[in-house]
Amino acid sequence: MEAQPYATAPAGSATLASLPVQPLLTSEFDVDPGGVYARLRRRYGPVAPVALMGVPVWLVLDYREVVEVLRNDDQWRRDVRYWRARAEGLLPADWPLLAGYEVRQTMFMDGDEHQAARRTHHSALRPFQDGHTPQGWELRAAVARYADELIALLGAESGTAGFADLGAQYTRPLLLMVTTRLFGCPGELGDELVMDLWRMLDGGPGAGAATARAAAAMTRLAAHRRARPGDDLTSYMLLADPGLSDERLGRELFMNAVYLNDITGNMVLNTLLEVLWGNATVRRSLSAGQLGEAVNRAALINPPVANMCFRFAARDVRLGDFWIRAGDAVSPSAAAAHRDLMALDSSHLVESTISTRAHLGWGAGQHQCPSAARELGGMIVSTAVGRVFEHFARAEPTLPPDQLPWRAGPVVRGLRLLPVRYELKAKPPGPWGEGAPQPPDASHGTGRPVRGLLAALRRLMPGGR
Ligand code: HEM
Repeated sequence: MEAQPYATAPAGSATLASLPVQPLLTSEFDVDPGGVYARLRRRYGPVAPVALMGVPVWLVLDYREVVEVLRNDDQWRRDVRYWRARAEGLLPADWPLLAGYEVRQTMFMDGDEHQAARRTHHSALRPFQDGHTPQGWELRAAVARYADELIALLGAESGTAGFADLGAQYTRPLLLMVTTRLFGCPGELGDELVMDLWRMLDGGPGAGAATARAAAAMTRLAAHRRARPGDDLTSYMLLADPGLSDERLGRELFMNAVYLNDITGNMVLNTLLEVLWGNATVRRSLSAGQLGEAVNRAALINPPVANMCFRFAARDVRLGDFWIRAGDAVSPSAAAAHRDLMALDSSHLVESTISTRAHLGWGAGQHQCPSAARELGGMIVSTAVGRVFEHFARAEPTLPPDQLPWRAGPVVRGLRLLPVRYELKAKPPGPWGEGAPQPPDASHGTGRPVRGLLAALRRLMPGGR
């Protein structure tokens, strides 16, 4: 008898369809996802069945199992065509989370096709990866300048002390400006793109239309840069793979926009939040001048990609206390795994001043965030957070932790707003001067009109203020 290479689930073992599943996305989850993960773990062990907007999937909670799913790409496939429920037509036609999965790009590819697509990203991102190339140096300088300009604008608009929303008035416009520049967009990207990405990721109303709009905008950008190449990521992607169609390149840019715009922005806000709330270890890293370390710690406590996109079982496999059937969808939870990790050794990992790079904030395995993108993302977060502490004498959250406006979605742990009471330093240090708009009185006191970039920045503000 021929040996069977792989095990199959024993007859009678529980299936996803046979288990009672509870909705993951509840108001309790918005406020205290950690409490929900802990309860699921107590009830089911390292892997739990949950319903995402009515569709049952497995949520992987424990660090060991999450790493196994992320690393073993032979067993855990990314291509959505492996998803049995989709193939059998069992997903509701209007299921809001499906739209994002139907945009076929690097993240949802396997094997050689995936490797080739990843090489294109690597090669296109390389010129921007660090400060040793003109492109990388200029991008770094631009991020710091944009941050300074936005804070100067805040001072000009609202005074040297008052109330501000570090989401809408700082982080979101900052990331839009960076994306506009890096992607080589002919006009400034606006908040509409951010809202469409939120709708897609959070499965909001109109997620399908929002996804189509954002992907179409990126396809137009691809066509524009093909006709007029520049010193930007879009043009470098075409250089790396001239065979990319506008539509295919548009899909890749769409995914990059998710990470650069939304995920990086959330990493900025989550780091600011930990520091402003007085998280002792994050603050200690910051005051020791270890900005990167502060970001790492914030990623451990609150990773912006809280629950990663689905993997699909290539064949039946035992994971945690269940048999996962071929074609089942599993979502590896970085947020839950981090809690597991912290519980394993809180004194060593959380309280120490030694770095904890074991975090899964960048993913792991074949699909982890490409190294050049990590460099870039880390630089943007460190700069954005660093400039706030450079310019603000004081910034305190105005809402208690249980009232913070978290977005309600399965993937991203992100704030809609971060309202603070602030006071700017009297005489701002650092490079606000050079080429940047002057703080309040310089422009307003004289009654001179606010021009150029300042005017452009105003348009990025909510309501075109
Ligand atoms: C702080 C910022 C960032 C964080 C926290 C982050 C996090 C992640 C995570 C967790 C993944 C893996 C997702 C999964 O396996 O399901 C990922 C993949 C990816 N990220 Fe990042 N990312 C960041 C910034 C960026 C930036 C700036 C770019 C590009 C401009 C980028 C491009 C990518 C790409 C192309 C992938 C897909 C890789 C693949 O599937 O092979 N990321 N990122």
